Amino acid sequence: LGPAAVDISSLYREAGFFTYDPGFMSTASCNSRITYIDGDEGVLLYRGYPIEQLATKASFLEVAYLLLYGELPGEKDLVSFERLIMRHTMLNENLKNFLNGFHYDAHPMAMLMGVVGSLSAFYHDSLSVNDPRHREIAAHRLIAKIPTIAAAAYKHSVGEPIIYPRNDLRYCANFLRMMFATPCEDYKPTLIAEKAMNLLFILHADHEQNASTSTVRLAASSGANPFACIAAGIASLWGPAHGGANEAVLDMLLEIGDVKNVPKYIEKAKDKDDPFRLMGFGHRVYKNYDPRAKIIREVCYQVLDELADNDNPLFELAMKLEEIALNDEYFVERKLYPNVDFYSGIIYQALGIPRNMFTVMFAVARTVGWVSHWMEMMDDRIGRPRQIYRGPSQRDYLPISKR
Ligand code: ACO
Repeated sequence: LGPAAVDISSLYREAGFFTYDPGFMSTASCNSRITYIDGDEGVLLYRGYPIEQLATKASFLEVAYLLLYGELPGEKDLVSFERLIMRHTMLNENLKNFLNGFHYDAHPMAMLMGVVGSLSAFYHDSLSVNDPRHREIAAHRLIAKIPTIAAAAYKHSVGEPIIYPRNDLRYCANFLRMMFATPCEDYKPTLIAEKAMNLLFILHADHEQNASTSTVRLAASSGANPFACIAAGIASLWGPAHGGANEAVLDMLLEIGDVKNVPKYIEKAKDKDDPFRLMGFGHRVYKNYDPRAKIIREVCYQVLDELADNDNPLFELAMKLEEIALNDEYFVERKLYPNVDFYSGIIYQALGIPRNMFTVMFAVARTVGWVSHWMEMMDDRIGRPRQIYRGPSQRDYLPISKR
């Protein structure tokens, strides 16, 4: 498995050279045993298991165990892992004060990033990252607390009281309840909503060295507190070229508004003088259909069907956009296919999740991948990219009166 790669770093170093590869187009930054992608064939494996099998057969926490520990859990292992995770779902009560400091219209990603980062102030023991026991507890705490923080950020943004976790519920059901219950009315998610969220979370759980995961690994390579490293990953995920694309796709579909406007927007996306890009299209690694997008597209049909929302105009619009783009020379030549984010927002919207929470959903799921990479890389050396200096050559300081 894997493309041909040669470790020439020591050879180059001795000869006084280094490589220049902006955007890491063809540079591997590490060895990893977690996730494999074949971008030309559209293959994605977690620890060797095809994403198609995991997405249809496993639970999110089962996949979390697989990513963290390398093997699928046995029945007893899974039960004790689920108990362990659900035992860590509560937040320190003082965190409410921190959350309340955010303005009501703060973006939930900003709140998520801030609150996760602030956990580093609560868990000093995580500083002893050389102790494998501390590493493991930090990983469990992160996976357990991130849905609580995400739901709390949402509640803050709509001015409702925080709903505490219910540890007798499954991971996704508990999350949906924390999002949608109120002190006046409990909320029981439908099975289809829970299933759809479980599937989306599995699809988003890991994707090897994307920008946010590489950020986590780089931040962690200095031995920094794991909660601070995950906050750095959340910051990186937020951008529209990465995890922010699911929110941007919905914005784009709403802007297009009608199937009759699709050709105009396809032309805009092709125009190099226009900054507009088809959001949810293209991928650095996949030069074939993103396998996750294939699965999501199928589930989109089912979810909209079961929620009796199958005449959802956004889904119709997305399918038309995909159909036209896939037959357009510009997109064909550049191998631009829909990526995982093209359809995920439509499902989230059908589940009642507001647009500004889409990237937060992605972050909740990807936390599992981030902590798995964090555990894997703890014994690596510090990451320290080089640069090519293009600034002025040496010059002398002039007193301000002479400049
Ligand atoms: N719409 C129009 N043209 C595009 C698009 C797009 N969505 N994506 C790439 N292109 C074009 C580029 O303009 C470029 O054309 P050129 O060769 O004529 O200059 C060519 O395709 C190659 O694109 P790059 O930007 O060089 O590809 P890169 O690998 O750097 O970027 C990225 C990949 C960021 C995903 C890009 O395709 C994009 O911006 N897509 C839209 C945002 C998006 O959906 N992001 C989510 C990615 S998946 C994820 O993070 C989970």
